Amino acid sequence: MRSTRIVEMLEVTEAAALAAGRWMGKGDKHAADDAAVQGMRKAFEEVDISGTVVIGEGERDEAPMLYIGEKVGRGGEEIDIAVDPLEGTNLTAAGQPNSLAVLAFGPKGTLLHAPDTYMNKVAVGPAAADVVHIDATPTENVRAVAKALDRDVEDLVVCILDRDRHKDLIAEVRAAGARIRLISDGDVFGAVATAIEGTGIHLYLGIGAAPEGVLACAAMKCIGGCFMGRFAWRSPEEKARAVDMGTCNIDGVLTMDCLVNTDETAFIATGVTDGEMLKGVRYFGQGARTHSVAMDSKTRTVRFIETVYRTGAEKFWVRMD
Ligand code: FBP
Repeated sequence: MRSTRIVEMLEVTEAAALAAGRWMGKGDKHAADDAAVQGMRKAFEEVDISGTVVIGEGERDEAPMLYIGEKVGRGGEEIDIAVDPLEGTNLTAAGQPNSLAVLAFGPKGTLLHAPDTYMNKVAVGPAAADVVHIDATPTENVRAVAKALDRDVEDLVVCILDRDRHKDLIAEVRAAGARIRLISDGDVFGAVATAIEGTGIHLYLGIGAAPEGVLACAAMKCIGGCFMGRFAWRSPEEKARAVDMGTCNIDGVLTMDCLVNTDETAFIATGVTDGEMLKGVRYFGQGARTHSVAMDSKTRTVRFIETVYRTGAEKFWVRMD
């Protein structure tokens, strides 16, 4: 049953978050990431799927667990899985907002095999889904979204990763009159937030990691928003490797169907640190509490779920001691 699958997968992101949350503010992003990866990998052992990791921790020679091509689950329906056990490693290490444990899945062969490169991205919620384009200028996108949302440009907030490569983008968005929310990391949140009321973010623009683009696109498919991208290759070698991997649309526009080629995808995220979309993990004497969102394009549902893991449920997370 679809709802059973969603709950099984929810336990996977919860396990990653429960493990990573222990490292909040400890200044060690690698330990936080390792904990999330271990927690997520272990939780997959309880899921009745024959899953293939198509977006993961890297290629087999560079990642011991959740590498691209790894098979996960204890048998069942064949599905593609995209994971980011800890999206925002620096955010967790510094105790800053909006780090997440994330996964998306879809039928076998439907999620883009995105190489570890960059992607230029635009994302917006359902009300403005038809008016943005990756090839439009930032000014054009900002004006179109403001019009679709029936706001002045000055009332719009654009989320952008705070990077030197975005100097011109930031200057143009400022000149267009919109306000900006600069984030230090975590552009899955930045993109998805455009479709979640109350986050105060209306448009996401800029270049971030390509695998995160596939994850964000899955969420936007579920929620009726728009995500569009274009690979931003850092070198000819990187591009050649992508050709070898069989990546589609090397130079073209990455439409939603190119990134996530199904109407039966699901996106699940559990908060690791507190943020505008999700609360972070709370630990207490008798257990821990997580806060997640589970979006399913097939059933057209978006669930916000709080789970309490009572003492005795420790199998799901790796303790620090
Ligand atoms: P982590 O892999 O450390 O969690 O960082 C995630 C992230 O901030 C993404 O959200 C974003 O797409 C990417 O890194 C940006 O990459 P860079 O830091 O190289 O600009």
